[in-house]
Amino acid sequence: MSLRDALRIPSAAITDEAVYHDRRRLLAAFAATPALTLAGCADAEPPPAAKVTITPAQAKSGFRTAEELTRYQDVTSYNNFYEFGTGKVDPSRAAKTLRTSPWSVAVGGECAKPGRIALEDLLKGFKPEERIYRLRCVEGWSMVIPWLGVPLGDVLKRFQPTSKAKYVAFTTLGDPQQMPGIRYPVLDWPYREGLRIDEAMHPLAFLATGLYGKALPQQNGAPLRLLVPWKYGFKGIKSIVAIDFVEKMPETAWHQSQPSEYGFFSNVNPTVDHPRWSQKSERRIAGSASKLFAERIPTKLFNGYAEQVASLYAGMDLKKWF
Ligand code: MTE
Repeated sequence: MSLRDALRIPSAAITDEAVYHDRRRLLAAFAATPALTLAGCADAEPPPAAKVTITPAQAKSGFRTAEELTRYQDVTSYNNFYEFGTGKVDPSRAAKTLRTSPWSVAVGGECAKPGRIALEDLLKGFKPEERIYRLRCVEGWSMVIPWLGVPLGDVLKRFQPTSKAKYVAFTTLGDPQQMPGIRYPVLDWPYREGLRIDEAMHPLAFLATGLYGKALPQQNGAPLRLLVPWKYGFKGIKSIVAIDFVEKMPETAWHQSQPSEYGFFSNVNPTVDHPRWSQKSERRIAGSASKLFAERIPTKLFNGYAEQVASLYAGMDLKKWF
């Protein structure tokens, strides 16, 4: 089965193209946001996850939103993918050098069925779903994007994580031949991210393979990227080549770079400011032709997904475990 076939989904399941194309906005007009600079969290081991179950109804209610979508052209030309440069337009210009096929993912660590698996096989048997998620960047802007992909937890279960698998670590490709930005020591490459296992198994956690009904463009993290919609966008690691089940909280690229600024959890939280700027509001990149400036809107706890995910953090001090 080709990747194209693996990604094919019934057109009725995808938001109408006409609806997409009807959306207009002006990109140029939002205020300069602070540069995404360096990250972190407290170094001690956090308390264990509370034992709570999420009802299917609770989980389901976050899968889509009726909010105005960000235009395809903005989703694919205003990016953060530092392996291709730190400017917002750099990835859409430079990432064409990323070869996304063939692609495989090495799955290892605390699981019964480790191994390197071709992307086609990783996705085999899954029917890609469309999820319309808000993406809230730590820099203070946000988008609403219709993604295609598969639930992360369902993919992870196939590798049979053991009881020692307390966290899941993800790694991006780190090839300087294909990724010119890696020549600069902006981060300690390769880009790495992590989730607690219950976060990874939450029905909202998603592995995207496409957006707007098409295969994922390179600049958006082709061929496989993570989406954790209740966390800041930098948790959404792109172009994943390795997934490891681990016992200890894994190091992440941003935490390693600036531990006081970027925590492991990185849950969207308007009451916990970034040390250098407020997180109380955001500019939605989704305006319409009638609005010159994207309006600043209040940021919601867990990016508006509190109903679905707040129970994951029951009893945790979110100011400490930011
Ligand atoms: N993944 C890798 N490998 N490298 C990156 O620089 N940037 C992150 C995240 N994933 C990044 C990454 C940040 S800061 C954000 S906000 C989102 O990707 C942006 O995703 P988008 O460009 O698809 O909107």
